[in-house]
Formats: sequence, structure tokens, C-alpha cells
Amino acid sequence: MNDTGRAIAYASSLYLQRANTAYAGYIQRDPMALLRLGPGRANPYPIYDRIRERGTLVPTRLGNGMSPSHRVCDSVLRNRRFGVRSAGTGTPAEPDEFDLSFLEMNPPDHTRLRRLALPAFSPKAVAGYQDRITRTVGDLLDRACVAGEFDLVTGFAAPLPIAVITDLLGVPDADSSEFARYGAVIATALDGITSLRHARRLQASDAALRRLFGKLFDLRRRVPRDDIISRLVAAGPDQVRPDEILPMCVLLLIAGFETTVNLIGNAVLALLDHPEQWQALCADPAAMAAKAVEETLRYDPPVQVTSRVALEPVDVDGKPVRMGQWVVTLIGAANRDPEAYDSPGTFDINRVTTADHLAFSSGIHYCIGQPLARLEATIALRMLAERMPGLSLAGAVRRRKTTTIRGPARLPVSTGARRRPSTPAPRPVPVADGAARSLPESGWTAGRPPGRQRQSR
Ligand code: HEM
Repeated sequence: MNDTGRAIAYASSLYLQRANTAYAGYIQRDPMALLRLGPGRANPYPIYDRIRERGTLVPTRLGNGMSPSHRVCDSVLRNRRFGVRSAGTGTPAEPDEFDLSFLEMNPPDHTRLRRLALPAFSPKAVAGYQDRITRTVGDLLDRACVAGEFDLVTGFAAPLPIAVITDLLGVPDADSSEFARYGAVIATALDGITSLRHARRLQASDAALRRLFGKLFDLRRRVPRDDIISRLVAAGPDQVRPDEILPMCVLLLIAGFETTVNLIGNAVLALLDHPEQWQALCADPAAMAAKAVEETLRYDPPVQVTSRVALEPVDVDGKPVRMGQWVVTLIGAANRDPEAYDSPGTFDINRVTTADHLAFSSGIHYCIGQPLARLEATIALRMLAERMPGLSLAGAVRRRKTTTIRGPARLPVSTGARRRPSTPAPRPVPVADGAARSLPESGWTAGRPPGRQRQSR
């Protein structure tokens, strides 16, 4: 088949997939499909409740399983008889799959590469970022204060993690907006590819990102610094093969900003939706910010779903799962499981924890960046409450058009202080808000690249 023929076949399969999802969701009321359509994107929680009524491990229409249960999700994620790709499959081979490094590898490769990335996220290393985060938050809030009204996503929640992750990787300041721009496009693939145009944009951004990283690898070989890329390019082939370095950097870049932006966005949205909780935070920001972050991670997690495949036959909650069968672990549902939490639908930053939430997953793929994400979000909420106690919504909130990643794409707020008309609003930064895409059948999680997410599962 020539290129045009292949393009037509590919586009047809994408549109067919979308039509199937729409039929299954709107006509057959299939919950898994509904999660990928407008109702699920707007509010997945009533759909999770309907799944929960059907049990702890519910068959999907494609013959896999999904679980809304905290206990079952946690045990599947921890179970070494499950993996992130089927036994015997290598790195992604299909054209619509991005290689997201050890996130989509099973041991022993997963163990080898994760070990190499871990030191950058040790408690000591993360504590070293406190000053930089505080300075960045302060600068962003200075600009927002002057503007009076601003979009909390593009003006605050997004620039913070981008500044931190590019710094951590060793991207020079002058290049960080380019890395962020291309990274944001690649991140739109996390929920699947929606059209031929989308596929072309992804290809172009992928090529641009490869070029940028390639130049940076050369620079750090010649002029090493104390950053992740310098360590990766200096590592021996027994630790990391040359072709494994780029996917690992792309994973860290995307995971570093695509998730934390939504944690901050979801937290501010939940707090402003519950004014008494915002007041509780403002009454004692230093003590309450970390609690508000934890409750947001439980109540409205940025990563809503991941999945695992059985590497051998295994029993889950008394039900047999065949080798090669997937279990979709519905993190957002597990975090509101009444078996694990009292009044699970209540947002309460003073909640006494009865179970660890699964926002960062569980088991061997437990999020490596969680100490950093927690620190960034805690400082962001603390300083926001200290400096803008009068914060309020100033317009319509727009949600991202994605299923795996959940958060606001647009969150207009007012600082509560009078605006000086001549001052500029904070400079917006690129975010993958999904505005240019709609949701396909296949998809992902920060934990879930397209390869693992043929997730009409
Ligand atoms: C609120 C912010 C974040 C959330 C909700 C989040 C969520 C997750 C989840 C759910 C997984 C596991 C997926 C699975 O089990 O299939 C994961 C893995 C991972 N995350 Fe995060 N993440 C966040 C922030 C970050 C940050 C800031 C970084 C790095 C700078 C990061 C890097 C990673 C990496 C490298 C993995 C792969 C771990 C492995 O496969 O062993 N994450 N994250």
C-alpha cells in the first residue's frame, strides 16, 4: 500500500473507532464508552457509581475487566502476575504508539531504568527544589496580582511544573518554552490519536522534540551539569542504552507537567466550589495546604485510570482472569469507594485518612515524581491562599476533553483586588487542553500510553 492508501486506511480506522464508541456509549449505554464521551469527561463520578453497582470486577464489552473497587485496584496494581504489557511483547511497534520508557515496561527493564531515574526524586533532591518552586510561585502570583483577573491554568498552574521539570532535566531557560510547546502536543496523544491531522501534528512535534533533545544531549556530553540529562548521557550501556535515553526524557517531561498542572487546577476548582474549605485553607495556609493537596488527590485525581494485563492466569476477587486479559483500574472510582472512605463524595480537607488514595497508582509503577508534585502543589496552594484570600471564579470553567487525565483547561479567576487597567495579564503557556481533539476509543493514563490503552477495553 502506498502512503496515501495507508493514510486513508488509518484515518478510516480512527473514525470507525469513534463511531463505535459513540454507539456503545449513547445507544447501548456502555459505561466504559460513556467515560470516553462528553458525559464522562464532564463528570465521570456518577458513571463510576453505576459500574460499582455491578460489582468489584465488571466485564467490558471487549472481553476485559474493569474495577471501581479500591481494594481490587490496589491488589491488581501490586500483583506481580500483572504487567503493563503482555508477556513477550517488546517496545511499542504500532505507528500510533509513543514509547514512554519504563512506564510501559515490565521488569527487569522497568527496574533497571526506574533505578536510574530515582535519585532525581529522592527526598533530599526534591527538598533542594523548594526555593526554586517558591520563587517561581511568587513571580507568577506577582504578575497575577497586578492583572487582577487571570486564567489560573495558563497563568499559574501550568508554568510552575514546566519551569521545574525543564530545570530538573537541564533544559536551558531560553529553550524551555519550545520543549513545553512540543511536549504539550505529544501529551495530547496520551488519550489516543483522534484524526489524521492530529497524527500529523504529533509526528511534526515528535521530530522537533527529538531534534531539541538531540542537541541538548550533545551539549551535556560536552558540558555536564548537575541534572538528569547529564547523568543519563554519562551512564554506561549496562545502565541505559543510547536509544533508551530519549523516551525516558520525553516521559519525564510530559509526566512532569501534564499531571501537576491538573492537580493544582482541580484543587483550586474544588476549593472554590466549597467556600468553607477555601476559608479553612486561608485560615491556616501553612498547616492546611498539604492536607488540601491530599484530599484533592483522593477526591478528583488528575490521572483517572490505568490498566494492567495478566501475565498468567490469575484470580481477582474470586473471578478468573485469563492470561492476556486486561483489568482497567478506575483510580477515580477507587478513590471514592465507600468501602474505603466515609462520605467518599464529600470534599473535606480535614478528612482523617482511612486508606491511601491511588492517585499515584500502587505497586512497582508507583509514581516516581510524587514527592515533587506534592511539594509543588503544596507551595502553590499555600502561597495562593496567603496572597489571594479573596480569590473567586471569574468566568466559565472549561474542562479538558480527555478521559485519562482530568482537569480544567480554563479556570478564570479574580484575585479579589482591584485591577489596574494598563497592566498585562500573566503570559499564557501552552497546555494540552484537548481543545483540538476529541476522544477516541484508545487512550492512556499518565500511567497509560496508547500501547497499554486499547482502552475501549
Ligand atoms: C499530580 C501529579 C502526578 C500524578 C497524579 C501522577 C500520576 C502517576 C500515576 C498514576 C502513575 C502510574 C501509572 C500506572 O501505574 O500505570 C505515574 C507514574 C509515573 N510518574 Fe507520575 N504523576 C504525577 C506527577 C509526576 C511528576 C511531577 C513526575 C516527574 C517529574 C512524574 C513521573 C512519573 C514517572 C516517571 C512514572 C513511571 C513510574 C514507573 O513506571 O515506574 N509524575 N504517575
